[in-house]
Amino acid sequence: MGLCYKLFRADVRPHGSEGMDVEGLGKLARWDRPPRAHVGSGGFDPWFVGTSSAQEASPAQPIWTVPEIGALPSNTYGRLVRRGRDLITATYAYIGPEVADRAKRFAGNNLACSNCHLQAGTKKFGIPLFGLFGAFPHYSARSGAQITIEDRINFCMTRSMNGRPLPAGVPEMQALVSYIKFLSTGVSPGQLLPGMGTGKMPELDRAADPARGETGYANACVACHGPDGAGIRRSLPTTDLGYMMPPLWGNDSFNDGAGMARLITAANFLHFNMPHGVDYLNPQLSPEQAWDIAAYVVSRPRPHKAGLEKDFPDLLEKPVDAPYGPYADGFSEQQHKYGPFAPIRAAIAKLKAEQKGTPAPR
Ligand code: HEC
Ligand code: HEC
Repeated sequence: MGLCYKLFRADVRPHGSEGMDVEGLGKLARWDRPPRAHVGSGGFDPWFVGTSSAQEASPAQPIWTVPEIGALPSNTYGRLVRRGRDLITATYAYIGPEVADRAKRFAGNNLACSNCHLQAGTKKFGIPLFGLFGAFPHYSARSGAQITIEDRINFCMTRSMNGRPLPAGVPEMQALVSYIKFLSTGVSPGQLLPGMGTGKMPELDRAADPARGETGYANACVACHGPDGAGIRRSLPTTDLGYMMPPLWGNDSFNDGAGMARLITAANFLHFNMPHGVDYLNPQLSPEQAWDIAAYVVSRPRPHKAGLEKDFPDLLEKPVDAPYGPYADGFSEQQHKYGPFAPIRAAIAKLKAEQKGTPAPR
């Protein structure tokens, strides 16, 4: 148990997450990819460690596991949480652009939240939705203001889902929030779980290359996501059953204001999650392949979100990989889109230091 515990602690080492996430929680809750020691020592994964070993390891650091939705009673609360889970995994069937009730057409595409928030928001480094409820409300650099969990969901509604916001009072929003809250059951205030976000792999010191990525895409992705990135529908000719393989670009995809349209987010998501089925313990794409393929995906056409220039009112807080201006640092949109990012970070650090009236560290 001592050994397991040590490995687990290694896994939860936080690191600075500059540029990874701009919604606040990410600033606190990003972890390096766990050391390979995990795999070498029999694929140990803190995810699967039960409570008893946790107690043996250290009563002060309980190991958390995803709560079991099937164990909820069939009462009003249990039904609400289950409905929230369904909204995550079959979003298109409840609030998609083709549902019968026009008033419920909130999403603008036929994606499901769980196409990106993998395994209904429970997969480590698959942008999980667990353990984050207590971090809201918090400051969002994107809006330059405090945001609630409802506001954060609506960022994904208007960007990843290319739709319109869900009003706070509608039952669908209440169900989504209840499910996300349920996924934080047993997480104490301020506790940071391992596996948040998309993970973090080393960056390239060159710009990521969409042309090389196109070749990688043809090898590793095209069989599922298609040569035109349009994915595979479950029921042709309609999309009412959503996608078997979700689209990566084109009209029915996320828009250019979405997190997945940013290179750092997309590349890490690919490295730790694609081709479908891989996870952070056994990635298949090398970091270099993931950067180049992500560059190809973000270079493809997708819906445009109006008003993006108003994002990140403090431009020094804008993520280095935001693919749209304006920027405070003088680097081109091209370099913000494909990197390399280290020179941009250095320029921003310098500007921040100047703002504080102190000379920049060299
Ligand atoms: C196209 C991919 C995609 C889809 C679809 C999507 N999201 Fe997201 N979501 C993201 C990304 C990327 C982030 C930011 C993660 C990061 O920065 O590491 C995010 C962040 C979030 C967060 C905040 C997580 C945190 O760590 O603070 C919530 C809550 C959320 N999404 C809810 C939803 C809901 C609900 C839906 C469906 C209505 C949805 N998302 C659909 C990609 C997506
Ligand atoms: C074996 C089929 C398969 C392969 C190969 C595959 N994917 Fe996926 N991909 C999926 C499925 C299925 C999902 C949705 C996951 C879910 O809903 O649980 C997905 C989700 C995604 C998403 C997030 C959802 C969206 O619509 O944007 C991205 C981005 C993505 N894949 C990119 C890639 C890239 C790039 C490659 C090649 C490196 C790749 N995938 C290889 C099946 C695959």
